[in-house]
This record gives sequence, structure tokens and C-alpha cells, in this order.
Amino acid sequence: MLKKAILPAAGLGTRFLPVTKASPKEMLPIVDKPLIQYSVEECVRCNIDEFIVITGRNKRAIEDHFDYNCELEETLRIKGKEAHIPELNIQNDLNFAFIRQSKPLGLGDAINCAKAFVKDEPFAVLLGDDIIDPDDTLLADMIAIYEQYKSPVIALQEVPLEDVSMYGVISGELVSGQLYKINGLVEKPKVEEAPSRLAVIGRYILTPDIFAELDVIPPGRGGEYQLTDALSLLLKKRVIYGYLFKGQRYDAGDKFGFLKATISLSLKRPEYTEKLKKYIKELASGF
Ligand code: UTP
Repeated sequence: MLKKAILPAAGLGTRFLPVTKASPKEMLPIVDKPLIQYSVEECVRCNIDEFIVITGRNKRAIEDHFDYNCELEETLRIKGKEAHIPELNIQNDLNFAFIRQSKPLGLGDAINCAKAFVKDEPFAVLLGDDIIDPDDTLLADMIAIYEQYKSPVIALQEVPLEDVSMYGVISGELVSGQLYKINGLVEKPKVEEAPSRLAVIGRYILTPDIFAELDVIPPGRGGEYQLTDALSLLLKKRVIYGYLFKGQRYDAGDKFGFLKATISLSLKRPEYTEKLKKYIKELASGF
């Protein structure tokens, strides 16, 4: 049973400046929940209950969000608003550990910060920027593949050719359905050098042998320690699968992706569906 997830949240969020100057990107709200809570809830739906959050400077609000706030609860009780209390305590029955990444040296370095806490278990990695539609079952599907093959599984999405240089891109062979056996990975390739349009997105099921590779990789693209480079080394030793996701993903670390996520997920909230549809129609009639 896979019980642990690493949530890297120490990035600088430069695509979302100026709001990320002093506030964590992971705390940007979609309707009324911060981005990182969507990842936590996705894990909870898959029975994952141990979270290792990699944080950094300016990220204190993430820890506070997943902590008990007794003053707030007391005030809500006094004001007769105790109906809100259950929604404040998503952390009940879950275990959170927070580790500071002292410098934002890249996703590979961020994951390596969790090494001592993961020990010899497989674990999920979720990048909170990537919001997966809560009605989709991507993570559950990936866990099922891991359980079947006991091999690492990486989520993939087919992206337009002009977008490949924003992602890690794989070469691989289709095994069946949406499952690929990965032959190679390259981080942010130029369009003309991309081996495919199959881009790595922010969901991974990894095995603890990735840490030995994270220990030896040199700084890669952009001077950062890249998870992609560690996966390329691991690929020389074992099979890694890619699972092609065909559902809806929003890159909420990008301003326009965030706007799309906000509109789409608001439309799914029953209390706003009709009001928002009406408002969008009114707006559109003026275009
Ligand atoms: P990104 O490169 O998408 O995030 O990293 P970023 O650096 O925060 O954002 P931009 O590109 O500057 O706008 C992918 C994930 O890895 C984490 C980020 O928090 C994000 O979840 N990360 C990245 C770390 O935890 N540490 C790092 O050193 C780098």
C-alpha cells in the first residue's frame, strides 16, 4: 500500500510575480481552497495519509494552513459559525512533515530533502501547480499500475509541439492502452530535438532507489538539480513506465492556466454553477 506523498513547494513561482514575492504560490486560492489542498485531497482519495511538504523561505502559511487554529475555532464558536469548523481541519487523521529546502536548487534537490523520511517505501510526488480535475482518477490509475508492475510510473500528457520546451519529454513504446515503457527522457528540449510530444506532468510514483541517483546527478538545465536527470540514470537500471493522462489538467503555476482552473473548478461548485454560467454568457454577449 502506498501511503506517502512528497509535495515539493519550495519553488520561487517566478511565473506568478508579483503575488509570489512574499506569498507562497501554493496558497493561491482556487475558489476557497489553496492550490496545495487540491493535491492533498487528491492523495486522500487514494488513501495516502502521510505528507512530506518541501517548503522554503516565505512559505510559513502552508504550515499554518495544515495546522489547528484554536483562536479561529473559538471565535467561530462564539459567533455561532461552528459549521465552518470541519472544513478547517483537513489535517485531522493525516500526518504532515515539513522540510525546508534551504535554497531552491531544483525539483531533484527538493525531493532529495525527503530522503531520510521516505526510507524504503514507494511514494507519490505531486506538483501542486498541476491541478488535475477532481473527477479524474489519474493518481489512483498510476498507483494501480505501480501495484501491478512494482516499477516507477510517471504521468504524461500529449502537448502541442510548440509547448514541448516547457516540459520534460519522453521517448517510449506503447505497451497497452495508455501505458508506455519509457526509453529516454530529456528536460525542456528544443522543438526540433524533442523525441515526442509526450510531456511529463506533475504526478509521479517513485521508488526509493531514485535517491541514490538524486545524490549523484550534477546540476542540469538552468543550473538546477533536475528530477528528469535522476530518472534518466535510473532508467539504465530498471523499467520506468509512463501513463498517458487524457483528462483535464490545469497548469495553475501559469497565470492563464490559473484563470482557466478558477473558471472551470468554480463551474463545478454547485453553489456557483448557474450564477457563473449566467455571468459568463452576459460577458460573452458583449465580446
Ligand atoms: P516549477 O519550476 O514549476 O516551479 O517547479 P517554480 O520554480 O516555483 O515556478 P516558476 O517556474 O519560477 O514560476 C516545479 C515544482 O517543484 C517545486 C516547485 O515548488 C513546484 O512545485 N520546486 C522547484 C521546489 O520545491 N524546489 C525547487 O528548488 C524548485
